[in-house]
Amino acid sequence: MVKLGVNIDHVATLRQQRREAEPDVAEAALAAIRGGADGITVHLREDRRHIQDFDVWAVREIAPRLNFEMAVTDEMVAFACRVKPDFCCLVPERREELTTEGGLNVPLMRETLLDAVKTLQNAGIQVSLFVDPEISHLDMAHQLGADFVELHTGQYAMAPESELCIKQLKAAASYGAMLGLGINAGHGLKYGNVAPIARLPHLVELNIGHSIVSRAVFVGLETAVSEMKDRINGALSSRI
Ligand code: PXP
Repeated sequence: MVKLGVNIDHVATLRQQRREAEPDVAEAALAAIRGGADGITVHLREDRRHIQDFDVWAVREIAPRLNFEMAVTDEMVAFACRVKPDFCCLVPERREELTTEGGLNVPLMRETLLDAVKTLQNAGIQVSLFVDPEISHLDMAHQLGADFVELHTGQYAMAPESELCIKQLKAAASYGAMLGLGINAGHGLKYGNVAPIARLPHLVELNIGHSIVSRAVFVGLETAVSEMKDRINGALSSRI
């Protein structure tokens, strides 16, 4: 079974557009869980453009598994240690980007990552590093003591027909698992392109946000999540 983590940031994007109380992020988490989400992901960005601090606390109360996405800053590490999500996924963050662009520059951020990984793990939180599917980055994630990596599927999402992207992701998943890392993946995944990624070897969880929240506008969040679960399970049952 491959788990589905549903990223509900864009429910907050809609709310922040008007600075009103709706749509309610915690209610969205509950709907996603009813639809079959195995966990909920929220990204508290430094500029607070969508998820707010209080959303994280509210979702913490109700989510069976909370994956907290965060930049590697002292502020976010301290906040995570107070909230104590089940997982933290460390991501690069740039103010001007529309969404996370690419995996962490693990070699450049080595020291900062080492401190963050240790501090979060000492607080009882499992740590995932969002990385491009590159062998050297997986080696470093392992050396840094990360529990998981989340393989960045953005390149694949831009060219889903690319055999090379799939080959790289498969090789990275196998290599990471061989090192003992848990393997997650995500970014840019949609109903139409998720199947080959769901079939990656050793995959534990997919994290998907934008396409599910977009579909929810038409069919509701519960149904949108259950349709994505069906796509993932369908891909696994048709695996040859
Ligand atoms: N994984 C990570 C690390 C991300 O930063 C994001 C976007 O917030 C996602 C997964 C989900 O990406 P998408 O919204 O394109 O499904």
